[in-house]
Amino acid sequence: MAEGDLLEMATTALGIKTTPRHIALIMDGNGRWAAARGLPRLEGHRRGVEALRRAVRAAIELKISYLTVYSFSAENWSRPRDEVQSLLGLLHRFIRNDLNELHASNVRVRVIGARADLSPDILGLLEEAERVTQANTGLTLVVAFNYGARQEIAAAARALAEMVAQGRLAPNEIDADAIAARLDTADIPDPDLIIRTSGEQRLSNFLLWQAAYAEFVFLPILWPDFDRAAMIAALQEYAHRERRFGRVEPALSAKTAS
Ligand code: IPE
Ligand code: IPE
Ligand code: MG
Repeated sequence: MAEGDLLEMATTALGIKTTPRHIALIMDGNGRWAAARGLPRLEGHRRGVEALRRAVRAAIELKISYLTVYSFSAENWSRPRDEVQSLLGLLHRFIRNDLNELHASNVRVRVIGARADLSPDILGLLEEAERVTQANTGLTLVVAFNYGARQEIAAAARALAEMVAQGRLAPNEIDADAIAARLDTADIPDPDLIIRTSGEQRLSNFLLWQAAYAEFVFLPILWPDFDRAAMIAALQEYAHRERRFGRVEPALSAKTAS
């Protein structure tokens, strides 16, 4: 039996008709998870890494093509110094400990976000993860680190302005495709589904451009509690959404045509 048929059988059994090609996760609520237990925020972040592992495993199992995870925003630098240090430490350890397993699972790691001011050790590690896994053909795990969508769009505008200044591009050639091609996500399809945990209903500077037609699912659970069941619940909700992309619903358009 073809792999596609097997996947269809598996998702049908779960009651999922349409699986998104690209899921993006806003992993929020680590601090509240810890506070609710009288633990330091760092403990919430530690448990958050375990939830991330579960999310990656679920995405592999469910044959999702792209999983983007918001791991650290451009604005998260303004948190207390020791919290920033612990978050960087956890990212470090996650890549050190999990890179081999990710590679063995045929996962390709990509990193989005500004790289210019990162410390050489973090940058080296992120680049190593990309290099080691670049030929893998399974899940693409996109890690958004030091990521801010406004900064990303501004950088794309700057690149285009430089081309215009050099006479290599005419202003009237700047369209949506030209901008998309200069974002960090240039060769990554737009997210179909954006899941945010913790109950907050906002994007917090995540994928502003790419989210134009994404479906949003806001889960009331805190990120350290995220698991396969939560992912499936979000997929079931997604399967009931009707995506229109500005068009009319197919049944309706058939009626209008007749
Ligand atoms: C998400 O959890 C982790 C990062 C933003 C890096 P938070 O640390 O934002 O947890 P809350 O929102 O304070 O509960
Ligand atoms: C968004 O969460 C960033 C990440 C999940 C990495 P935040 O907790 O930083 O967002 P706000 O401050 O509540 O909007
Ligand atoms: Mg938060």
